[in-house]
Amino acid sequence: MTSGRSFYITTPIYYPSDLPHIGHGYTTVAVDALARWHRQAGDDTWMLTGTDEHGQKMLRAAAANGVTPQEWVDKLVTESWFPLLETLDVANDDFIRTTQPRHEERVQEFVKALYDRGYIYAGEYEALYCVGCEEFKPEAEIVDGTGPFEGLKVCAIHSKPLELLQEKNYFFKLSEFQDRLLELYKTEPDFVRPESARNEVVSFVRSGLKDLSISRSAFDWGITVPWDPSHVIYVWVDALLNYATAVGYGTDPEQFARRWPAFHVVGKDILRFHAVIWPAMLMAAGLDVPRGVFAHGWLLVGGEKMSKSKLTGIAPTEITDVFGSDAYRFYFLSAIAFGQDGSFSWEDLSARYQAELANGFGNLASRTVAMISKYFDGVVPPAGPSTDLDAAIHKIVADAATAADAAIERFRIDEAIAAIWTIVDALNGYITENEPWALAKDEAQRERLGTVLYTAAEGLRALAVLLSPVMPESTAKLWVALGAEGSIGALADQPIRDAGTWGVLRPGSSVEALTPLFPRVEQA
Ligand code: ME8
Ligand code: MG
Repeated sequence: MTSGRSFYITTPIYYPSDLPHIGHGYTTVAVDALARWHRQAGDDTWMLTGTDEHGQKMLRAAAANGVTPQEWVDKLVTESWFPLLETLDVANDDFIRTTQPRHEERVQEFVKALYDRGYIYAGEYEALYCVGCEEFKPEAEIVDGTGPFEGLKVCAIHSKPLELLQEKNYFFKLSEFQDRLLELYKTEPDFVRPESARNEVVSFVRSGLKDLSISRSAFDWGITVPWDPSHVIYVWVDALLNYATAVGYGTDPEQFARRWPAFHVVGKDILRFHAVIWPAMLMAAGLDVPRGVFAHGWLLVGGEKMSKSKLTGIAPTEITDVFGSDAYRFYFLSAIAFGQDGSFSWEDLSARYQAELANGFGNLASRTVAMISKYFDGVVPPAGPSTDLDAAIHKIVADAATAADAAIERFRIDEAIAAIWTIVDALNGYITENEPWALAKDEAQRERLGTVLYTAAEGLRALAVLLSPVMPESTAKLWVALGAEGSIGALADQPIRDAGTWGVLRPGSSVEALTPLFPRVEQA
């Protein structure tokens, strides 16, 4: 059911030097929810994720573990990074690894093309490098170390000492692209989102761009520079190109034309690479720039950016083992305004799980299905004439669906969920107000009882569709319980942009018992 409108969206490709934590999981489920929404809308959707396997960080991690870098990445990717996608119920269309030949060969081709076009030259370089960032740091991100690093210059993000590197490097003429980049941000105001990220990028570029060192010769764990085998390509140039090589740049023009350009969702730590360097590289090669870059905020633990290197990393399975993957997805996507920082806490997670999922959505689903079983032998009743109370529900559902789709267009998953949640709250209120258990005691109210339960069930039908990109597991269970599968078809086939249209669920469908969608959890 594709409409032809292409929607290609990517996560960053993560460094598999270490294990995944909930920060990586956050970006990945956000991108997955956006991709699922568009797929369910019939857009020609492609979701890419993967791993960034070259560079000095990887080399050092492997050395510290006494294996070769290839052995190290193979182990981490198969044992930890592929399983992360299962853990979080991610429906990616592809997974790229930068050590794959499909990538390495095309990267060489791309860099050679820039060289042939005169955008690359050889030069000398001396600057402070952060291996954590894999980046020569600009002045503004260099701070004085404290504690064990007293007296040293450290990275503002990693708080680890910077290394003074002096090498002969190849340079990309990034400085030539300042005007074209500023023009891009002006003519495509949504190129960088949110607004705060856009402002940061614009002022960074306005302050002047330096040429970018794009090769390293002090080590060899990387892709060889095609015209000078004593150098490897800078890991960020290698990494950014994954977005193009994965969809057939240089090998499959049809696939490339169909997918490119992409939307990139990244953490704000790597915004500049995506919003400045990457579009400049593409301009230099004569390719289309991305459709947009959305930078989300950081998950904070104890007020600081959560990270493995600072030992504040939490494994996603610590959460999913207790609460399940849907709760993980729901929590991070609803509790944090997408684009801003958010503090993670177990208390907040448990409280929201209990209030919103168990008591809110889960309870609405179980009691509706249970009452249809009890009062109508498990058959969805027809609705009689509607009252103002019913009409109010129809309107809330229609408005929520429209608002949610508009929010998704702005990448505001949190706002989409908030809009959808107006249905959960309204239906719970509707049931309380209409007291179906009281109507059931009066034979004369039989038709009204049917209307009330049809309204609740049909509202749940809309909820199942609208929430399926965020909570694929529980909405699939609910779909079966509503008897929708047999009467109106698979959940995946329901057009999400029409989810607010009233009256889709067919009276006469048989409901099935529903085990609690969000069972009580044993708190450790
Ligand atoms: O930077 N809060 O990889 P990486 C929110 N390989 N998101 C977080 C986070 C936190 N505390 N910590 C990590 C790299 N992330 C490069 C990318 S792309 C061409 C190359 C997420 O393993 C967030 O998406 O350091 C961040 O941008 C990304 O992980 C960095 O992952
Ligand atoms: Mg990082």
